[in-house]
Amino acid sequence: MYSRERLVTRLSSIDWDFAGYQSESPFSALHWHPARFASQLPATLIGVLSDVNDVVLDPFVGSGTTVVEAQRLGRRAIGVDVNPIACIVTKAKTLQITTEEIIECVKSIKYSVSGVMASSKGLYSKDRNLAPIPENVQLDKWYTPSVQQDLCLLWTVITQLAGVQRIISDLAFSAVLLPICRETRHWGYVCDNSTPKDQHGGNAFEEFDKILDSLIEAYRQRNREYLFRMGDSGKIPNVEVITSSASEALKFLKEDTVDLVVTSPPYFGVCDYVKSQRLSMEWLDHAIEPLRLVEIGARSKRRRGTAVSEYLAELSDVFKGVRKCLKPGGFCAIIIGESKTRTSVLDQIRDGLRSSGFDLLLDVNRTVSSQRRQAPSITGEHVLVYG
Ligand SMILES: C[S@@+](CC[C@H](N)C(=O)[O-])C[C@H]1O[C@@H](n2cnc3c(N)ncnc32)[C@H](O)[C@@H]1O
Repeated sequence: MYSRERLVTRLSSIDWDFAGYQSESPFSALHWHPARFASQLPATLIGVLSDVNDVVLDPFVGSGTTVVEAQRLGRRAIGVDVNPIACIVTKAKTLQITTEEIIECVKSIKYSVSGVMASSKGLYSKDRNLAPIPENVQLDKWYTPSVQQDLCLLWTVITQLAGVQRIISDLAFSAVLLPICRETRHWGYVCDNSTPKDQHGGNAFEEFDKILDSLIEAYRQRNREYLFRMGDSGKIPNVEVITSSASEALKFLKEDTVDLVVTSPPYFGVCDYVKSQRLSMEWLDHAIEPLRLVEIGARSKRRRGTAVSEYLAELSDVFKGVRKCLKPGGFCAIIIGESKTRTSVLDQIRDGLRSSGFDLLLDVNRTVSSQRRQAPSITGEHVLVYG
């Protein structure tokens, strides 16, 4: 590891906009998330601030970008998110699985799906022996009749699967729900439970297959690169995924056990993460309302008189927990921005981190590309690195 001075020089020399860098991880685009960060961000931070076999933590893991990169680079990792869909997606992207095993697994899922399709002979009947649909699914509202039929058949297969087959099928099923639903306007309309105006649909089976194929490709690339980097003896490290509020999960993590934290907390009042995955929450049978209560910084809470102080207090709790788990000499990297249309909170976040004992090594502003902005006014975000 570098001396503190060299480390600051090294960090300051990095182009945090990643202009001209190689493209993103193939895992990144497998499942939509409203605020996924570029995989180059955690990859660079993990490469500079940790060593092989170290433990990397992301208490706001979202679609798993940090822990996917940590695992790929030979670090053990822990990811926490209050949103169960984020955790399902993260688990499916970080399996300790060989390429042959994932190919076999996908083959077997596709075989089961083709069996159900063949037995349906293209006909769908409510009398068939289909798995019951979770009662929160708003079938008629979100899907055209033909998409409903496909989803009910796919669901029947998925509910019979277990283990790794179930984990990756849940990801693939969850990933197809938004692109083939009737809503074609911004995802915010689904988030807010508005009634779609369109009859848009799609082929659920084809989309499901495509996700499974992309998953094979992502694992093939991960395993090939890993073998190249670590040699035959290198075993893909474990990633632990915890579905919980970050402050609760951190209470159970042991003191001085984490080498590096790389995370992007919710920005104040910008996004409703739980509601944004409404379609998947309905099918995978998770109640939205209780989770919204523990979601930090949700857009829907922004007008409360206490919204800012609650947000700052909740983040402060999480970072106190992070401080406890970090080993002496460990690092914490935070990627955070704010909307120009909300109360500014960044200075208070910095102050809070300082008073919790974090020592600032780097504070750079990076440009957020237009495709990745959580809101049009968020054109930049800060990369803060603490020692
Ligand atoms: C900015 S996103 C993280 C995105 C992630 N870096 C990625 O690349 O996908 C923030 C995440 O914090 C999660 N979150 C919100 N409140 C939380 C809480 N109290 N505990 C844990 N996670 C929470 C949200 O569900 C969301 O996935």
